Amino acid sequence: MKMIETFRSVVRFKEIELDPVTRRLSRAADINDLRRIAKRRLPRGVFDYIDGGAEDERTMTRNSAAFSDIEFRPRVLRDVTNIDTTTTVLGKSIPLPLQLAPTGFTRIAHSQGELAVARAAARAGIPYGLSTLSTRSIEEVAAVSDGPKWFQVYTWKDRGLVAEMLERAHVAGYEAIILTVDTAVLGRRERDVRRGYTLPPKIGLETIVDGAIHPGWTWDFLQGGAITFSNVQGRKGDGSTAISLAAYANSQFSQALSWNDIDWLRRQWDRPIVLKGIQTVADAKQAVAFGIEGIALSNHGGRQLDDAPSPISLVEPVAQEVGSEVDIFCDGGVRRGSDIVKAIALGATAVWIGRPYLYGLGAAGERGVDHVIEFYRSGLQRTMALTGVRAISEIDRDVVAWK
Ligand code: FNR
Ligand code: LAC
Repeated sequence: MKMIETFRSVVRFKEIELDPVTRRLSRAADINDLRRIAKRRLPRGVFDYIDGGAEDERTMTRNSAAFSDIEFRPRVLRDVTNIDTTTTVLGKSIPLPLQLAPTGFTRIAHSQGELAVARAAARAGIPYGLSTLSTRSIEEVAAVSDGPKWFQVYTWKDRGLVAEMLERAHVAGYEAIILTVDTAVLGRRERDVRRGYTLPPKIGLETIVDGAIHPGWTWDFLQGGAITFSNVQGRKGDGSTAISLAAYANSQFSQALSWNDIDWLRRQWDRPIVLKGIQTVADAKQAVAFGIEGIALSNHGGRQLDDAPSPISLVEPVAQEVGSEVDIFCDGGVRRGSDIVKAIALGATAVWIGRPYLYGLGAAGERGVDHVIEFYRSGLQRTMALTGVRAISEIDRDVVAWK
């Protein structure tokens, strides 16, 4: 009798969750879990394009590993009842120091693609950087999001085309542009080389077999309509025929881009400019000398130059030189809310994430992106409570130490 009583006191049957997306997300405790779910759901070529990095992927691995070289110096007994994660980027208040980095071809992860990401970002009130190589256009994204939007620029050899895109982004209300400067040529992503991966994904026998193994993705993909580089749709090289990204980027983008072009860019765009892919103190200083408003320390998530430095290791030296003059963003390997606190303690204004929201999108569509943002928000808030800081402005250098 006693046994049954004891048993009764502890047994609880979980209510069966009927909605598959809710069920999937309820088991995703961290970004790695979402990555695993995305890996299961996406065709291998698609997953590897998103997940992979350049050459030996040392920079990619190091990007996140570098965060574990930093530890906290938590202060206690500080009344952390109220925690405020609000901060200011490019002169505007945002609810947390997190932004969604530009990623191309988002519709390969889910048919809603950039629209889903933009809506999730807008709901959270955080800026979304739309890629030049997006599969929904500048205008389509603006139509579904009245949240803060920035436009990422790759410089086509055809300058007229770039000027036209900037004009469109201006009219559509994008608040800033992000000029990506680490992609003079495309890095060698060897997972893509091995698979002969093209964009949009080519339908061949391999794809059909892969599609059959991933019916959920295939069904969704076929609903979405043809994938093209929607910002240049109808022009030569709009991506309506399958091509390797390396061949595309190397033929369409200008390798001649230099500091001289910054003045040209400034004449086309009267709102803030952020340079993404700065990787040395010297270039950070040069950017400031050119009057740039924001610097994104980034190595493109380890997808460009292997053995490039991890962005988190650059934050402090760059902040010491130019932190009072520009906003400093940092992306690459940010995988937890606690990583945000580390970056801010070293001098960053905000961090950006790329792959994490794509894993969320691939795992569970738009709700997966919401889940990711909420994961970072709650992690940030919890870490602030546990380190004894109540506001972003209280996260100073004393909060962390390099091990
Ligand atoms: C990117 N990134 C990128 N950057 C950019 O300026 N323009 C682009 O079109 C893309 N496209 C793109 C596609 C995919 C699939 C990934 C994973 C990344 C780089 C991105 O903005 C960011 O720098 C990194 O993703 C940050 O690293 P984590 O967060 O992925 O580790
Ligand atoms: C990439 C390009 C699109 O990283 O920037 O794949």
